Amino acid sequence: MQSLPIFINLIDQRCVVIGGGEVALRKISMLRKAQANKIDCYALDASEPLLALADDHLVLHQAAFSPEQLEGACIVIAATDDHAVNEAVSIAAKACNIPVNVVDAPKLCTFTMASLVDRSPIVIAISSEGKAPVLARYIRAKIETMLPASYGRIASIAGEFRGKVKARFSTIEQRRYFWEEMLQGPFVERVLSGQEVEAKALLDEAIAATDNRPKKGEVYLVGGGPGDPDLLTFRALRLMQQCDVCVYDKLVSLEVMELVRRDAELVYVGKSRSNHTMPQEEINELLARLALEGKRVLRLKGGDPFIFGRGGEEIETLMQHGVPFQVVPGITAANGVSTYAGIPLTHRDYSQACLFITGHLKPKPDCDEMNLDLDWQAMARQNQTLVIYMGLVGLPIICEQLIAHGMSPEMPAAVVQQGTTRHQKVVTASLKDLVNEVSKAEVKAPCLTIIGEVVQLRERLNWFEPKA
Ligand SMILES: C[S@@+](CC[C@H](N)C(=O)[O-])C[C@H]1O[C@@H](n2cnc3c(N)ncnc32)[C@H](O)[C@@H]1O
Repeated sequence: MQSLPIFINLIDQRCVVIGGGEVALRKISMLRKAQANKIDCYALDASEPLLALADDHLVLHQAAFSPEQLEGACIVIAATDDHAVNEAVSIAAKACNIPVNVVDAPKLCTFTMASLVDRSPIVIAISSEGKAPVLARYIRAKIETMLPASYGRIASIAGEFRGKVKARFSTIEQRRYFWEEMLQGPFVERVLSGQEVEAKALLDEAIAATDNRPKKGEVYLVGGGPGDPDLLTFRALRLMQQCDVCVYDKLVSLEVMELVRRDAELVYVGKSRSNHTMPQEEINELLARLALEGKRVLRLKGGDPFIFGRGGEEIETLMQHGVPFQVVPGITAANGVSTYAGIPLTHRDYSQACLFITGHLKPKPDCDEMNLDLDWQAMARQNQTLVIYMGLVGLPIICEQLIAHGMSPEMPAAVVQQGTTRHQKVVTASLKDLVNEVSKAEVKAPCLTIIGEVVQLRERLNWFEPKA
């Protein structure tokens, strides 16, 4: 950025305008729109429309510029058609550290009037004129999701390739089609994910290729977070908006699915406990096949793709097939759910470590019984927090084994169902009573178990659920 966008409240602040012509009138009108009510305008010869504007809030002084006119000013605008006068205003204002704007003379300015400043090459700032700052922030956040920070790099790289593209495509139309295609495809994604060398290679490839070349698709492996759509990352949202096909799991919330591009083909691959609608190997191959057909494939997962999400297996297959991909982290259930349950996972007084554990039961070798093969000794240690994913069915074994390995039966514990959503349900109990309480509350998957002294903090820190 070359300038810092700021918004100055001008109410009851002295604003000085030097000049009385059309430009001065425009600037004064802008100041008045911004509720400036103490404007002093100095000009030898003020224009008729400016004279007509004069009132209690705008005092016109028939005088040539002199530095003492700036005394006590909050801002100064020089709008004369005399460069020497404008320069004198700028020097005098700078000497008193008064922000100065000189019309059409950026070198003489210390601020510019536009509320949208940094154009290196694209910057947007928004003001609601002080009336609705929260709304302005909201709109800004929305625009930021549409125009990520690296858009400047896209523009710069496009600039570098202008010559090559012009040499290859002779008509403006051809060049427009070319850029339209590039700006909607993997080139942009490569730049946005910092892979500029690959991005430039894609451009070179596309310039060299004929029009009927096969399109290359890609896969976006995206973490959809634990449920609340506001917890999606900007990048996740952007990729969700531009995919051709979305391959999604049961764990992805309906609210998050709502944000996937309306026209995208949706492929449900299930994955609830003991009901994997499609085996993992088939999912891996499906992703590769769709991308090789030239599609932009959104692989949308609950939480984070690399935390008990088998994301590693999926990208391994993509690598074997030479399919381009990118991975977008999501807020994992441990983070999102504990936060919304008012349970900090670490705390100076209670817990200096946190373990993420899978409580998924596996069949014992050579029999039908299910078991959990975990390091109970390590889990039962003091001053740490256990976060157990997929631990509902195995909860009796987990509680029993932890107590058997030395954890206090009174250790506070919580089971959180559908955390971060409006269906969130939290059951807290001591370790010895947890199974009973969970069964009484008829808790259902997905749920997360948190065990450790930190759970007692929920009593004070529960901020999300309505107070009873
Ligand atoms: C296969 S794991 C996937 C974890 C996911 N990749 C993540 O990072 O959160 C599924 C388990 O995550 C936990 N989980 C995910 N979302 C949850 C939520 N909103 N509330 C409670 N538990 C959740 C549950 O333990 C569920 O059984």
